[in-house]
Amino acid sequence: MYVQAADPSARKPVTVPRLREMKVREEKIVALTCYDASFAAALDAACVDVALVGDSLGMVVQGRASTLPVTLDEMVYHTAMVARGLANALLVVDLPFMSYRDAAHALSASARLMGEGGAAMVKLEGGADWTCEVIAALSVRDVPVCAHLGLMPQSVHKLGGYRMQGKGADAAAHLHQQAHAVAKAGADVLVLESVPQELAARVSRELAIPVIGIGAGAACDGQVLVVYDMLGITPGKRPKFSKNFLAGRDSIADAIAAYAADVRLGTFPAAENVLG
Ligand code: KIV
Repeated sequence: MYVQAADPSARKPVTVPRLREMKVREEKIVALTCYDASFAAALDAACVDVALVGDSLGMVVQGRASTLPVTLDEMVYHTAMVARGLANALLVVDLPFMSYRDAAHALSASARLMGEGGAAMVKLEGGADWTCEVIAALSVRDVPVCAHLGLMPQSVHKLGGYRMQGKGADAAAHLHQQAHAVAKAGADVLVLESVPQELAARVSRELAIPVIGIGAGAACDGQVLVVYDMLGITPGKRPKFSKNFLAGRDSIADAIAAYAADVRLGTFPAAENVLG
């Protein structure tokens, strides 16, 4: 496996085509959530490839019980803060709950996140037919899209909790079909959250677009974590698929650098971080 030199001064801004090239070259993509300018600078210093302004900010920053109350205004606000601190990482931003309920809403929400906020790619959850129509409407207008399948936090009430998805033959076949559907609709990247590692490995192998896993095993093309989880500062129990990278280290900068190195070397996630 090729491991990219992690020298911040030698870095060029990460682009959407560059992510595809990284997949082809079997360079692991390092992604982390990010909610403000100081963390954006820390991610860049550690040569993180993707900074994700996740709507997880509703839980880890705002202290809410789910991501559902997060508003588009709040996402624009956090995106603009991150954009001001970021030089190289690709800025990917979640479209909040119901902001992409049809193509018209998705287009105007994306225009705000990209125009006012400075996002380079928007992320949305789901792979149903209507979601694929929304992805196609964005893609045809050159809005880069990251799809998110598996455990979709915006569907927490329908799913009945934050549980692993794609277990069992029928659920796996459904997720596999949706992964191909979002790629066909024009998604540029796919995030797979909390799915069996064999299924994530198969999807990563079959799709031409990069697949970034969280709780989906080591065979994905890249990994993403919630930054507060990997620093051990999220209140409550840390998800099994995450790891406290600050434990035993002196600084946040060291923790983020260790995470980036472990993802690039393929040593994170380890067996103890795999769900099943
Ligand atoms: O909102 C978020 O932080 C996310 C990641 C967990 C992938 O969607």
